[in-house]
Amino acid sequence: MAPEKILITGANGQIGTVLAKALSEKHGSDRILTTDLRPATHALLPFAALDILDADRLEWLIREHGITTIYHLAAILSAKGEQDPALAWQVNMDGWFNVLEPARKYGLKVFFPSTIAVFGDHIPREGTPQHVPLQPTTVYGISKVGGELLGAYYHANYGVDVRSLRYPGIIGYESLPGGGTTDYAVEIFHHALAEQRYTCFLSAETRLPMMYMADAVRATLMLMEAPSENIRVRTAYNIAGMSFSPEEIAAAIQKHIPDFQITYSPDFRQKIAESWPASIDDTEARQDWGWRPMYDLEAMTEDMIKHLSITA
Ligand code: NAD
Ligand code: SER
Repeated sequence: MAPEKILITGANGQIGTVLAKALSEKHGSDRILTTDLRPATHALLPFAALDILDADRLEWLIREHGITTIYHLAAILSAKGEQDPALAWQVNMDGWFNVLEPARKYGLKVFFPSTIAVFGDHIPREGTPQHVPLQPTTVYGISKVGGELLGAYYHANYGVDVRSLRYPGIIGYESLPGGGTTDYAVEIFHHALAEQRYTCFLSAETRLPMMYMADAVRATLMLMEAPSENIRVRTAYNIAGMSFSPEEIAAAIQKHIPDFQITYSPDFRQKIAESWPASIDDTEARQDWGWRPMYDLEAMTEDMIKHLSITA
């Protein structure tokens, strides 16, 4: 079988920065083509500028570089999406369609990152199961439900190997988040180290599903490498890492930085957070391709502080 040649969209974002590195370590940097609207300031991997709404340029890049696999990360996230719903709809829906069409034409394998934002009304908030009504209340969530269904449609009707995860809020030290509701859980570490205080835009007790970046990257690689017959969910798999509230992560940080103080000033993102689950049931991911998270709140906090202290 010919070696994979991987194109990553939205590669300069929070997840793409780290996933691209992991993929290049696995496959070799000459097997990776990172793309985004603008180049990263410190691009280390092959890069091509790409607006995901430019379908012709994407198809040209696929042909020119002999692409076999796409990790489609480009999107507008929840908070930014509520501020510009038209842009979120266009980038998240049209952009995904622009990936699926050449995937059908050239037989590509595709990764689509979905999210806990697909959940909304009429669900159990604790241990939210894989199969529940999907009635999100944000344009981001609505576009990701549409994206999941469109991916499953291309799989069922055209045999496209589409694989997807519903990421929780992702926390990492190597990159900054780009406009989501869970961004506070990254910001809090930077503020704790720089000034020992943080004003959180969610209320103290708002519990959300979260995951350390190392686990998110590992889950993505595990899913993409699993035998096709193991992938029984072609919309998107629930995956869980940990769940915590702002007051719980603040307490975990205080074990390392005793002077750290948190205050609360909830804004429009509070309503978004309240529409999402507090915790996720990921039984099917565990059964189908062996998913297990490695980081809980304490392990993640220790690792974040260790790495950010070195770079501070
Ligand atoms: P991010 O906002 O950090 O990065 C998104 C990237 O997409 C940015 O670099 C941006 O420049 C790029 N982009 C935006 N519009 C574009 C366009 N028109 N053409 C090309 N590129 C464009 O997001 P992220 O956190 O890295 O998320 C990556 C994916 O994972 C997204 O699909 C997101 O919905 C999903 N996801 C993320 C999280 C999380 O907590 N980070 C959670 C659930 C799902
Ligand atoms: N972390 C993302 C957000 O807050 C969830 O997809 O938008």
